[in-house]
Amino acid sequence: MGGMNQLDIPPVLVTGATGRVGRLAIDQLLDAGVPVRALTHRSGTAVTLPAKVEVFTGDLTVPESLEPALSGAGAVFLVWTAPPQTAAAVVERLASHVRRVVFLSSPHQTPHPFFQQPNPMAVLHADIERLIAATGLESTILRPGMLASNTLAWWAPAIRTGKVVRWPYGAAETAPVDDRDVAAVAARTLYQDGYAGADYILTGPESLTQAAQVDVIGDALDRRLAFEEMTPDEFRTLSEGTAPSSVVDMLLAAWGAAVGQPAYITTAVADILGTAPRTFRQWAADHATAFTEGP
Ligand SMILES: NC(=O)c1ccc[n+]([C@@H]2O[C@H](COP(=O)([O-])OP(=O)(O)OC[C@H]3O[C@@H](n4cnc5c(N)ncnc54)[C@H](OP(=O)(O)O)[C@@H]3O)[C@@H](O)[C@H]2O)c1
Repeated sequence: MGGMNQLDIPPVLVTGATGRVGRLAIDQLLDAGVPVRALTHRSGTAVTLPAKVEVFTGDLTVPESLEPALSGAGAVFLVWTAPPQTAAAVVERLASHVRRVVFLSSPHQTPHPFFQQPNPMAVLHADIERLIAATGLESTILRPGMLASNTLAWWAPAIRTGKVVRWPYGAAETAPVDDRDVAAVAARTLYQDGYAGADYILTGPESLTQAAQVDVIGDALDRRLAFEEMTPDEFRTLSEGTAPSSVVDMLLAAWGAAVGQPAYITTAVADILGTAPRTFRQWAADHATAFTEGP
């Protein structure tokens, strides 16, 4: 799309724009020459985004607040981290303005035990998918497995302070997907035709136990990181106040179910982007300083 005149294409509205995947999707869209609008529910002046991005203040829990951001937009990247109550009204409003929506969901339909643990997020994602399907929108559903960046939130605090990484189910295998690959797929399906009705499970290229993932981060830091198994009950206690208990229970059930079998892996990232998905080793190398220097 090099050289495309920005005025020729309607802007893409990115929700979750200051979050992990949305922020990276903005970079990918700008690289492709696509005009970008970003939604934030904080004051627009409180967020730092590339100068080319048009920032709109709006809240997914207040559907009418999205009107200015949606008016004249061509497509929406929908990332839902808000409570569920206003989802129907928001999807209806999207449908009255844009032609296309790409929704960041999860692999809750995938017949692998890791993804089959009941949890409220899966219910919300399924509901939003149904709402989208009931509109006439061109839609694409993206279902990343474990984002590689989760490990930053999980293990960086211990690694930064030189402590042993203590975690439950070190033997559980996942195939962490690089957030940049998820964002690149999101951008591609937002600005290019041909993905209407498609539904993709996005994974990294290799199955790694959680303990092996800690080793890979250690390699990136040129340090040997000690790993110690923690019991699920200890994890529950330590997570109190930092994550909802339903999420903690879902993670524990998923990891427990994933011990002893390889993670579910797809070729979707390569199929869509035409390049191999980034490995967890690559992700760790590119984020090494985040494990030493703080958030
Ligand atoms: N982590 C994983 O491994 C994983 C795997 C599969 C799927 N997912 C899904 O990915 C999604 C999260 O993506 P992410 O990690 O990129 O998100 P994130 O980093 O948590 O960012 C979410 C953004 O949403 C915005 N936001 C929060 N409440 C809002 C509201 N009421 N109205 C408008 N915007 C609001 C916030 O931006 P402002 O403060 O600027 O408004 C925030 O930056 C979830 O649906 C999750 O289930 C995650």
